[in-house]
Order: sequence, then C-alpha cells, then structure tokens
Amino acid sequence: MCGIFAYTGSKKAIPILVDGLTSLEYRGYDSAGIFTPADGVFKAVGPVVELRKLLPENANGTSGIAHTRWATHGAPTAENAHPHADQNEILYLVHNGIVENYKELKEELLKAGHTFKSQTDTEVLAHLLGVERGTASSMDEALESTLQKVRGTYGLAVIEKAAPSTIYAAAMGSPIAIGVGENEMCIGSDATAILRVTKQIIYLEDGEFAKITPQNYEIKTLDRKITTRAPEEIEWDADTIKKNGFDHYMLKEIMEAPEVLENSARGRLLLTEGRANLGGLAEHEKELQNIKRLVIVACGSAYYAGVYGKYLIEEYAGIPVEVAIGSEFRYRAHIPEEGAALLAISQSGETADTLASIKEAKRRGILARGIVNVVGSTIARETDLGVYKHAGPEVGVASTKAFLSQMEVLALLALYLGRQRHLSVERAIELGKAIAELPTQAAEILSKHEEVKVIAEKYKDVRDMLYIGRKYNFAGAYEGALKLKEVSYIHAEGYGAGEMKHGPIAMIDPLFPTLAIVPDDAVFEKTISNIEEIKARKGPVIAIATTGNTQIKELADDVLWIPKAIEPMAAILAIIPMQLLAYYVGVAKGYNVDRPRNLAKSVTVE
Ligand code: F6R
Repeated sequence: MCGIFAYTGSKKAIPILVDGLTSLEYRGYDSAGIFTPADGVFKAVGPVVELRKLLPENANGTSGIAHTRWATHGAPTAENAHPHADQNEILYLVHNGIVENYKELKEELLKAGHTFKSQTDTEVLAHLLGVERGTASSMDEALESTLQKVRGTYGLAVIEKAAPSTIYAAAMGSPIAIGVGENEMCIGSDATAILRVTKQIIYLEDGEFAKITPQNYEIKTLDRKITTRAPEEIEWDADTIKKNGFDHYMLKEIMEAPEVLENSARGRLLLTEGRANLGGLAEHEKELQNIKRLVIVACGSAYYAGVYGKYLIEEYAGIPVEVAIGSEFRYRAHIPEEGAALLAISQSGETADTLASIKEAKRRGILARGIVNVVGSTIARETDLGVYKHAGPEVGVASTKAFLSQMEVLALLALYLGRQRHLSVERAIELGKAIAELPTQAAEILSKHEEVKVIAEKYKDVRDMLYIGRKYNFAGAYEGALKLKEVSYIHAEGYGAGEMKHGPIAMIDPLFPTLAIVPDDAVFEKTISNIEEIKARKGPVIAIATTGNTQIKELADDVLWIPKAIEPMAAILAIIPMQLLAYYVGVAKGYNVDRPRNLAKSVTVE
C-alpha cells in the first residue's frame, strides 16, 4: 500500500501534489517523492513534511507525479523513494504493487549495461519502459509491450520529460483512478487525493491504461482498444475515503483480509513442487538447515501468532519450538545450545521488548530471524535474515490484518523448513493449496459480517467472556479474548479448552458466555465435550464451527461458520469472525475502536 498522485493543468503543480500526497499518507508514510519535468526530482525519507522542506518555493511546473511509500522492496531510503527514472532519465515513474519477476528483468537489464540507483522493483519497471520507449513509436505502444513483460501487480503513473503535460496511468491489481477537472486532470491511487482537484472520477479496470492532458483523457485496454466511460461523482468526504467507506480503520483492515492473505503469499508458493519461495531466506539455506531448536520471541498478538507457529513448525518441519514473551526472554537463564535460532515476530518492527530479546540472542551468538511488516524498521535491520509480511500499513491500534498475515507467513515458513527436512511432497502440496485458498475463504466469511453484528448486539452487555480452543486454535482463543478486551473493555480470558475442568469452569453461569473455536478437526470431539460441560452449567456458548456441522448447531446458542479447511488453515479463518465480533461489540458500546484507551500502536518503551 503506497499512495500515487499526479497532476496536469495550468496551476503550479508542486503545492497541489504535496496536498494530494498529504491526504494519501495513511496508505504509507516511510518516504515520499515528487517529479515535475520543469523543476526536477525531490525525495525524502519520512512523512510528507520532510519532503516539503526540500521543495523550491519558486517552482514553475504545471504537471508532475508524486508518491508516498510503504516499503516492499528495499529499505525506506531516499534512493528507494519514488519517482524512479529509466536509464537515460527520459521518463519518471511511480508505482504501487509488486513486480514479481523483477529479479529476472533486472538481470537482463544489467547484462545490457544498465545501472540502478535503488533496490526497488519500480526502478526496474522504469528502466524497462525506457528501453521499450526507445524503439516504440508512442508511449502507448511502449507501455503495452512493457506491461506484457511484467508479472505481478501495479498501479502506476508515468511522465516523459519531452511531453511534460501528458501523464499515463495503468492498473493491474492495484487501484488507480483519474480525476476529470476543468482544464486540469489528475491521477490518484484513491479518491482522497483526487478530491483535492475535482469530484469527477473514473476508476481504471485491471488491464487498462489512461492518458491524460489538461483538456482530455483517454482510456484504453492493454491491446489498445479505446474504452469510453463517463466520470462518476465522488460522494464521500476525504475521511470516509481514507477508510474506504468504512466507519473505522479497524473494520476496513479486517475487511482487507482477502487482499492481505493474497499479498503475504504472493509469489511465495510453488504449488506444484510443494515449496515456499521466501526471498529473505534463500541466501541462508545452509544455516536454516542446521537449526535444531527455534525460540520465537514476540509480544501481544504477535506472541499468539508465535504460539500458533509452534504447532505448525513442530508438525510440518519437526523442529522443537519454544515461544517466549519479549519482556520475559531477557530475564531468563539461557542454556547455550548448538543449532538454536531465534525468530522475532513484530508488525511494527519497533517493539522494545522484542528488540531487546534479539540483541540479547545476538550477544549469545544465536542466529536471529524476523517476521516483520514494516520494511526497514529497527527489528528488520537488527535480524540477520527475515521475511516481510506485505500486509500494508495497519492504522487501527488493535492488530487485525497484520495478525492474519503473521499466521500465514508462519505457515509458509513451516512449509519452507519442512521441505528442507522430512516433509513429504504430498503433504507440502496439501498445505500449499490450503494456503492459496485462504483469500477466497476469508472473503466468504466476511460476506456474512452482518450475522456477527447480530451476535455482538446480543452479547454486548456481558461483563466477562471466556474464549476456548485446542491445538491449532489454542493461540486463537487467547488472540480472540485479547481483541475483545482491547476494543470493548469487557473482561475476556483465553484458555485451552482442555483446561476448563482445571479451574475456569468454576466461573461459568448463565451470565458468563464462552466462545468456543471448534472446527472439524482432530480435537473436535474433545472440544465438544468441553462445550457440553459448559452447557450443563447453563453457560451460553457462541461456537466458531465448520459450515454444515449439525452437531454444533444443536449444542451452541449461536454459531459463526467458517469454510472447511485443513486444521492449521481453519485456525487462521477462525480469527476473522472473532475480530468482527470484537469490533461490533466495541462499536455497540460506543467506543473508539481505532484508538482504544491506554494503548499505543507501537510500543517502543520497555
Ligand atoms: C494487539 C496488539 C499488540 C501488538 C504488540 C506487538 O492487538 O496490537 O498486542 O501485537 O504490541 O506489536 P508488534 O507486532 O508491532 O511488535
């Protein structure tokens, strides 16, 4: 998720571009850049205010392109910030999305003598377009041949120095719209920035590209057939657009689950071979092969993702895994062990307790790896090797989409480590296919969000709530309870379902509901017994179960259904209804679910 904005008209472009970029900052904010053919290129690390400091006051350009970045390839540096130029600097380009085959393309270009200033896939795209432009009779033709060579997703805007008032845009799996004004046009990755210029908008479909000049716009398909579409009027205000029409970032981010589950696995699953292709680990294959024991360190939700990962990695890769809370790890005696490795999990990449654990592990000579969302963050830099989650920025304080992507990346890691060891191709393919199905299954669950809302209304006034699950859903029970606590301030506890009889069942009465995660899996019957014990004490039960299971329908008071999936993937899917439930309960109680009291998004103090 990054932000694109481009403008062509008769007004001074730089103030308009800066204004548009500022409105897009919620999409990414680690670096930003602007190019206008008349004034040149400007790039800065950090939010748009940093870029603003570099911009000339007497800029004259009346057209330009701009970008605010959320790093995916390469750290957030000025070199990696967009716009990027081609080899001869005849054109500049800004891009959202991921060019999956950028390494192959870059190798060919390097062989042809190209030199690159950044580590980004976008610069490769710019160079390729520059090459094609050299032989094509028009930019349309060059774009067509370039984009046919690209695998992956893109939303982009391009400007040529030689034709400063014409800007091109293209979309494939990453949104792009054009704004149609009076003698001015613009391009934006969403309507927030376009709204600064005009309310008239046209969204590009995948596989379309557009050419804008101050007076005209033209939309074509990649095989250059002209399509005609009249602009629609933007009805929302800027804040609603940022939230994509949702009332809160939390709901928007929960609803992004299909996209996030797609992005975190994009280009990483080799389905027919039953392998995971994790770029950040490729160079360290030997060290990873030698791991005899893994210690996962993380805090909060990321810790629960680690607990889930323990079950997966032990089952699929046969590596013993210990999961430690970041704030505890440092204070324990560590028995030196050959073949031990540390895996830190962190959305922000800045959590102080997790960071301190990494430093401690490194001091003891242990290989430290990371699963991090924020590219170039401190934890990403401190770990020796790692995997990025590609979940996009998470604005809601309570982690939702980032947690799902952590679970998915752990599944990819289990596949990777498993295939280095004893995991059979058949089981690996089964796991790979199940991972690939997650986005569609997540969309199916989300389509029934209104049902969760009804249940939330029913339970919103309870004082306490218990969440139970076993095996792969053990961690989910804790995460579900944490989500409810954070946004509704209801006292909620997570428990292993089998632990009920060892104490917590004492609390059960008609006013103390339990949410039981009970999909069709190896521990289904056991969890059913636990639910029966609760029902015998008149405790209300909300179950999360596999669609079509009649037994649970009879037993539970309310059921939230998830599609059939293999055990570890059902555990990922089960998270989504719990996130929705927490959200709707928090909203029904009138709380600001995006900014729960006493909490910060990134905990940089110990
Ligand atoms: C819960 C939540 C926190 C974080 C924890 C670790 O919804 O967001 O528990 O998971 O503070 O943060 P990161 O993943 O940034 O290290």
